[in-house]
Amino acid sequence: MSLTFGNVHFTQQPQRVVYVSGSLMKNLKLSGKKSVHLRFGGERIPAVIKPINKAGKHLYLGSSIRKDIKIPMAGGIFLRSLQEGEVQIGPLIGVLSDGPASSAANPFGSRTGFIKQLLRHGSKQSYIFAFTPKDIHWENETVNGYFLNEAGHFIRKKVPLPDVVYNRLPSRRAETTTSIAQLRERFIRRRIPFFNWSFFNKSDIYRMLEKDSLVNRYVPESIMNPTPEQIKDLLDRHSLIYYKPNNGSLGNGIYRLSRIPKSGYYARYRKTGRNALLRFGSFNSMMRTLQARHGRALRGYVAQQGIRLIEIDSCPIDFRFHMHKNGRNQWVVVGIGAKKAGKGSVTTHLKNGGSLLTPDQALARAFGPRADEVLKNAKNVAITLAEAIEAHHQHLIGELGFDIGIDTDEKIWMFEANAKPGRSIFKHPSLRAEGKASVEHILEHCLYLSKFRRREA
Ligand SMILES: Nc1ncnc2c1ncn2[C@@H]1O[C@H](COP(=O)(O)OP(=O)(O)O)[C@@H](O)[C@H]1O
Ligand SMILES: [Mg+2]
Repeated sequence: MSLTFGNVHFTQQPQRVVYVSGSLMKNLKLSGKKSVHLRFGGERIPAVIKPINKAGKHLYLGSSIRKDIKIPMAGGIFLRSLQEGEVQIGPLIGVLSDGPASSAANPFGSRTGFIKQLLRHGSKQSYIFAFTPKDIHWENETVNGYFLNEAGHFIRKKVPLPDVVYNRLPSRRAETTTSIAQLRERFIRRRIPFFNWSFFNKSDIYRMLEKDSLVNRYVPESIMNPTPEQIKDLLDRHSLIYYKPNNGSLGNGIYRLSRIPKSGYYARYRKTGRNALLRFGSFNSMMRTLQARHGRALRGYVAQQGIRLIEIDSCPIDFRFHMHKNGRNQWVVVGIGAKKAGKGSVTTHLKNGGSLLTPDQALARAFGPRADEVLKNAKNVAITLAEAIEAHHQHLIGELGFDIGIDTDEKIWMFEANAKPGRSIFKHPSLRAEGKASVEHILEHCLYLSKFRRREA
């Protein structure tokens, strides 16, 4: 196999001919060949080759070829020679997402900015488009994709099924429907790499890591769907616990429960945009209140040992570690945001009054000269955790967002693993470069998965 980068051009010639410059002929091992099979995404067509005398690596496609193989536009792209006389043009990368309602200008809702950023960077070295589930035509195996034109606007182009799919479907609920399950199965059946598979549930991750003695020490003790007796026991042993919904996000529905001897039980939570704190004389009265608020929904809760986080100005701090797999299929920490909780808030979410700091700012205040050492250790733990989750998971994972806590003993704890991490940390002026690196890692990993990147032997 050989891999090279060249330029694809269109000609008005109606014949099924591709004209290939001399050095590209040599690179693609086509010298002396009269015909070739061209591949683009899921499409494969035969064509006649004619060498042309032109410096550099160029490929000219006649109009019928261009139409049949559905190459959306001319430009610089990778070319891969496969077995005898077969050349693959690509990669063709699909970014799967969706939006609130069908609007041509804004088909991906609040994700549009990020998707355009991916497309803008990706189109320098790939054919990359975004699409929604309804843009796939499974019968003809085509997708009516959203590409980006020179002016930065979406344009629709019908292309073959992509070489790789980056899944950013936004809705947890939609992702559990049979139609999305079927969509994923259809990609897998065609051996099209699809990452990430779906949102994670907290309990799935806690359960998965429970069996793994190397990493379980980084997960606070967790009990899925606990009985009141189990909650009481956990609270008696740790005096602080978090009680949170399995598939919650953004801190919704989370309680911080604590027990203070001779004083009682306390429940801290968020209620209609404000922080609430209730005191109870007994554990049972606290549980009755929670049951009255949530009823059967408490069956989807996890009780978890509460960690006493490091603090700045008496506000707890935790961290978002944004992880990616790179072009060599290795995990890397690409960006870290430190999140300082708002006063009286149970969580560190920005929407609950939290603020964003760089990890250096936060750790220097908490650990002084030990800060670098603590950060280095936390990065190693994050990589170990990512490797463990990937090893125990059935499907491809290329990106993870960890919520990581550090306690005053410098111990590292993982509260949550997000399979579709948000990108708000990258809005911090000091983290913009990391935001760009994150986009580049996604694209590099797409190149890797679609085999358009050289792999070390
Ligand atoms: N066991 C815990 N100990 C201390 N703080 C916690 C614990 N679990 C969660 N938190 C705090 O609450 C935040 C939100 O919890 P998380 O599990 O990430 O749920 P969500 O899905 O709502 O983001 C965390 O970022 C952390 O600040
Ligand atoms: Mg979280």
